[in-house]
Amino acid sequence: LRILLLNGPNLNMLGVREPATYGAASLADIVSALQQQAASLDVQLQALQSNAEHELINAIQQSYQQQDFIIINPGAYTHTSIALRDALLAVAIPFIEVHLSNVHARESFRHHSYLSDIARGVICGLGAKGYHYALDAAVSYLHSHNQ
Ligand code: DQA
Repeated sequence: LRILLLNGPNLNMLGVREPATYGAASLADIVSALQQQAASLDVQLQALQSNAEHELINAIQQSYQQQDFIIINPGAYTHTSIALRDALLAVAIPFIEVHLSNVHARESFRHHSYLSDIARGVICGLGAKGYHYALDAAVSYLHSHNQ
């Protein structure tokens, strides 16, 4: 099984960035813990972070027929990007949307997502554990759909 982990703008600042909201772990810490989980589940996990919308779109397009599932924290592009939505619709790869913070408990401009209604599921407010829950859910989804 091949899973792509995408993190959008400012998530490279995790650990430094508003730790009360986003936690103390760096993105490198989170990704290495996820790589361990992936290895134990016999999954190939490829991870990319970018601050650039077009790089995230290119990564989604390149996933066509190359990845079985996408886990994405689109950062602020969640609330702005019709282009990311269209890329995910174009490749038709099932995905889970993850947010570290509970976006619904924050400013109203964070309450709307351009991705949630086309996601397999959405996890928010559970901190870095949300990525682990997403990986677990992705693997069960793939096992039940790929037999
Ligand atoms: C975020 C929530 C977004 O509203 C914000 O713009 C981020 C991070 C989260 O993980 O909680 O950059 O996606």
